[in-house]
Amino acid sequence: MPLQQQLFGQLPSGTAVHLLTLTNSHGVTVQLMNYGAAIVAIHTPDRDGRMADITLGFDSLSGYLDPERNSYFGCVVGRYANRIAGGQFVLNGVTYQLAVNEGGINHLHGGQRGFDKVLWDYAVAEADGAASVAFSYLSPDGEEHYPGNLRVDVTYTLTDTNALRIYYRARSDKDTILNLTNHTYFNLSGAETILDHELLINADAFTPVNSARIPTGEVRPVEGTPFDFRRPTPIGARIHQPDEQLQHGHGYDHNFVINGTPGTLRLAAIVHEPSSGRILEVHTTEPGLQLYSGNFLRGALGRAGRRYGRHSGFCLETQHFPDSPHHPHFPSVVLKAGELFESRTEFIFGVQHAHHG
Ligand code: GLA
Repeated sequence: MPLQQQLFGQLPSGTAVHLLTLTNSHGVTVQLMNYGAAIVAIHTPDRDGRMADITLGFDSLSGYLDPERNSYFGCVVGRYANRIAGGQFVLNGVTYQLAVNEGGINHLHGGQRGFDKVLWDYAVAEADGAASVAFSYLSPDGEEHYPGNLRVDVTYTLTDTNALRIYYRARSDKDTILNLTNHTYFNLSGAETILDHELLINADAFTPVNSARIPTGEVRPVEGTPFDFRRPTPIGARIHQPDEQLQHGHGYDHNFVINGTPGTLRLAAIVHEPSSGRILEVHTTEPGLQLYSGNFLRGALGRAGRRYGRHSGFCLETQHFPDSPHHPHFPSVVLKAGELFESRTEFIFGVQHAHHG
């Protein structure tokens, strides 16, 4: 049965939230829920075929509803993933003031009640052995002070080639800004931290930030910095170096400029976890990739009694660059009235077999 639906819990209003499980022919499963259009769990085999969850999350809906425990686990982030300085932007000569929900200075991840905190509609489908869930949400004009009635569709498909495809579409009836991502935290071994995971990022440059984690506007070559992941390097290998950028991020919390042409699906990152052999590949049409090394996780009680402390998971958030409205040379985040916004990201799950001899 490639697609299962069950009750996951209830919102305080009494509305039911559903858990949807996609399964492919290799036994890989992806669990999704309509609250936040979120990924709840992903089970993949290690090199010996043992299945385990490779994400951080909670056993029940209550964990996701608790702001003390839930740091955007698995959700779709919008309308604007990451930060906008001062929560302000100007569009067609009009100044919009969004919530400054990060320390009273930045707009973060869509505001007080972003796409992670709303209930999405959904429809399930199966074709050619691949099961998918299509989430949709109508964000009304003025919601979180963004302009335009915005209809967003996010479709997750699990293929028999062990790829989880995420296809984002959106349309607004007024000019607006938009930056969507998925905020899944991964840990491919279940170890206490992800610092031993070997990471490759297909990026020759990144966008440095100031102490408020807002891009300065500079596009800096990674060459000779702890941000050079062009060859596989453990996430923890340089994370404690006395580097100003690592200090501003409290670790890695930075946007990388993915090589190649935005709009075309291309490699963004490969993660290899040596003890399990698990591999995660990320491909996207987006221009940027936020590497977040779980710096602000503070030990929340997660799934199966696990504590999610600092660096217990990492996120690879495919996106447009943070604070783009203030940096005209960054790829534009403006969505014109009536135009179709499209974006694709794929997470591909694999294993590397140990070398003998
Ligand atoms: C993003 C941000 C981080 C942090 C997390 C959520 O990755 O860049 O600074 O806010 O989301 O905790």
